Amino acid sequence: EKSGYDWFMRKEIFEQPRAVADTLLGRYSDNGELVLDEIRIGPEELRRVDKIIIIGCGTAYYAGMVAKYVIEHWTRIGCEVELASEFRYRDPIVDANTLCVAISQSGETADTLQAIRHAREQGSKVIAICNTNGSTIPRESDAVIYTHAGPEIGVASTKGFLTQLIACYLLGLFLAQVRGVKFGDEIGAVMDELAGMPPRIQRLLDGADEVYGLAHELIDQGDYVFLGRHVGYPAAMEGALKLKEIAYLHAEGFAAGELKHGPIAIINPGMPVFVIVPPAGRDQLHDKVVSNIQEVRARGARTIVLAEEDDGEVDAYAERVIRLPRVSTLLQPVLAVVPLQLFACELATALGNDVDQPRNLAKSVTVE
Ligand code: M6R
Repeated sequence: EKSGYDWFMRKEIFEQPRAVADTLLGRYSDNGELVLDEIRIGPEELRRVDKIIIIGCGTAYYAGMVAKYVIEHWTRIGCEVELASEFRYRDPIVDANTLCVAISQSGETADTLQAIRHAREQGSKVIAICNTNGSTIPRESDAVIYTHAGPEIGVASTKGFLTQLIACYLLGLFLAQVRGVKFGDEIGAVMDELAGMPPRIQRLLDGADEVYGLAHELIDQGDYVFLGRHVGYPAAMEGALKLKEIAYLHAEGFAAGELKHGPIAIINPGMPVFVIVPPAGRDQLHDKVVSNIQEVRARGARTIVLAEEDDGEVDAYAERVIRLPRVSTLLQPVLAVVPLQLFACELATALGNDVDQPRNLAKSVTVE
């Protein structure tokens, strides 16, 4: 049931405040403890973990890229993230002290399933982050954190991605709690900020018309570039993937810091370049990304900048600014991706494409 929406994808984008709220529900106890009942791996074992490997495909892999920054920062455990299809075939070093985190909306992705089977054969514990109750990947894992996005029908993942991010934050906090590197107050502060995400997502959805207008303006461009840095980098990759999947357009995501090492050569006058700007704050990331906007603008790119609502420094170099509500850096992808989803959905529908079942793609890829 599309409940009045033209496409399931659009409906699922607009369901995200609810999906995020549901994924957070019941995870935080009255006495200020994070509770993940589904983690059936004992605290002793979790304290022994000396390496984390996150695996997934497509959008789930991008959620894993965000998780790497988050989990390393909060737990100080070394964290790798790898495409499931690569992990299995490179003879990875995993043992009983390695924790594998498999992210999969469907729970049926063959590459991810093969990867966790391989990890468990080497003695590693596996935690699945999954949206589909009783699917194969959680059944074959040691533990599972379910996202509560509800069924995702559109082939292009939207609410699946946002809720995967939430589950990754919960896992990172939980590990930090178990290992005693983060305590009540710090955990409480992040949980409060997470609890404030649904209304912030809603504000972005309320601004959909502006993004739709932009999609119509930029409809006939050949190539689209997405830039981000730190956790904004996977968000940029996800924005590009959405456009490829449903609009069948050439879109590339790059780490903004890599621009000078090659990608800036492709910038042509008139090319739409989306730039995700980190919150202005303690480190220099923000200023470096603002310089990147300047660099592509100087080459004639049409700069569409996603920046915090009170960030005035981007105005001089931005053809358009999409304002993001204020949050801490690590949580920003939850917001930055929403306008990119709206943009891809509107552009693809305006082109007359079936965004729910785009050509050549299946909702779950059950063959390697
Ligand atoms: O069900 P999964 O999360 O394991 O699926 C992984 C990818 O196939 C999936 O995210 C794919 O990239 C989507 N079509 C993205 O929109």
